[in-house]
Amino acid sequence: NANYTIVHGIGELVTGPADRGGERGPEPPDEPVLVREEGAAVVASGGKVVATGPSDELVREYPPENAATAIYAEGNPVLPGFVDPHTHAVFAGDRSDEFEAKLRGKSYQEILAEGGGILRTVRAVREAEEDDLVASLREHLDVMLAHGTTTVEVKSGYGLESETELELLSAIERAGAGHPVDVVPTFMGAHAVPEGSEADAYVERVVEDQLPAVEKQGIAEFCDVFCEEGAFSVEQSRRVLEAGIDHGLTPKIHADEFATIGGTDLAADLGAASADHLLQSESSDVERLLSAGVTPVVLPGTAFGLGGEYPDLEPYRRRGTVPAVGTDFNPNCYARSMGFSATLACVGMGMTPAEAVVGITSRAAGAIDRPERGIIEPGAPADLVVLGAPSYRHLAYDYDGNAVDRVLKGGKLVV
Ligand code: NIG
Ligand code: FE
Repeated sequence: NANYTIVHGIGELVTGPADRGGERGPEPPDEPVLVREEGAAVVASGGKVVATGPSDELVREYPPENAATAIYAEGNPVLPGFVDPHTHAVFAGDRSDEFEAKLRGKSYQEILAEGGGILRTVRAVREAEEDDLVASLREHLDVMLAHGTTTVEVKSGYGLESETELELLSAIERAGAGHPVDVVPTFMGAHAVPEGSEADAYVERVVEDQLPAVEKQGIAEFCDVFCEEGAFSVEQSRRVLEAGIDHGLTPKIHADEFATIGGTDLAADLGAASADHLLQSESSDVERLLSAGVTPVVLPGTAFGLGGEYPDLEPYRRRGTVPAVGTDFNPNCYARSMGFSATLACVGMGMTPAEAVVGITSRAAGAIDRPERGIIEPGAPADLVVLGAPSYRHLAYDYDGNAVDRVLKGGKLVV
């Protein structure tokens, strides 16, 4: 057998486009996804896509019977593997009672101020064994993969002191090792002000103790901060992210989730990889992010759980682009499926199914500085999702099922 993979008999082949970021200008709004109508194929070798084109031609050139892996798609759609650009997927404990408390009228910030929320997860994580954190994260990765996610960003931030933050980053690395999903680690020591501390003093500990240790450990790639009323001010966030840059970490920021305090300006100023949530952002804030080449990330699952107020799509539409879409999977947003995020991006925010696909693929890849992902073209990783449905729209249209039938990671069938 020759050492190639062929997926043939594809109906709609959703190939891209590549994230143009700030550099090459946004995509035209009408055609954010390139769809071949009938009879396409994708060939992969050495983990990468080597050819896309009409199925009959590629089948002649790369006979399925000689392939290491041959998949007949039965006329179903093939999409790039999904890239989840924002999760807090490594945690311990259970907060389902807070779900109920919120339904009874308590706010997210009230719960946090009372020592619940993030602070409660911090207590549970400090008591957990690293092996258990690894096992729990692996289970979450399995669910994500079954729903088509092939690359996921995972943040620390439930330790809030050096030892546990390093343990979380180590658990993130270990869970990703040997798992088909590629895991991208982010350090988020500035996720909340720990109990008994004061914000300024804690920021100094993040800068003086945690960041040097994180650099020495050498796992984290990004540094994120919760820039928010009740968490960290713009000045404190700047202090953390600038120190992060000094320690080799690319900045990211949680901005405008509850209050518009200037986190987007900071992101633009620092040239952050992404600014995330943007639930309360003004259109001028979005404009500035786009002009600065910062990828905006919306998290419709969180908006859904917080009461159903979604970010406004208009400022993106005016610029002919769409934001990246992530799950924000965490104990406050218990949703791991990108298909569910796509549904909410469509029904809640008014994205078209094609725009939602761009949001969870190439746009999301831009948010984690992986521009070669989230597209299907020669040279891109052969991370492919085959739907068990007649159109790519089913990813968002199928509200409660899993439209994903098969997943290939680096050209190998993994689901
Ligand atoms: O992005 N807002 C801050 N961080 C997370 C929530 C984490 C938690 O509540 O445990 C978020 O929504
Ligand atoms: Fe988050």
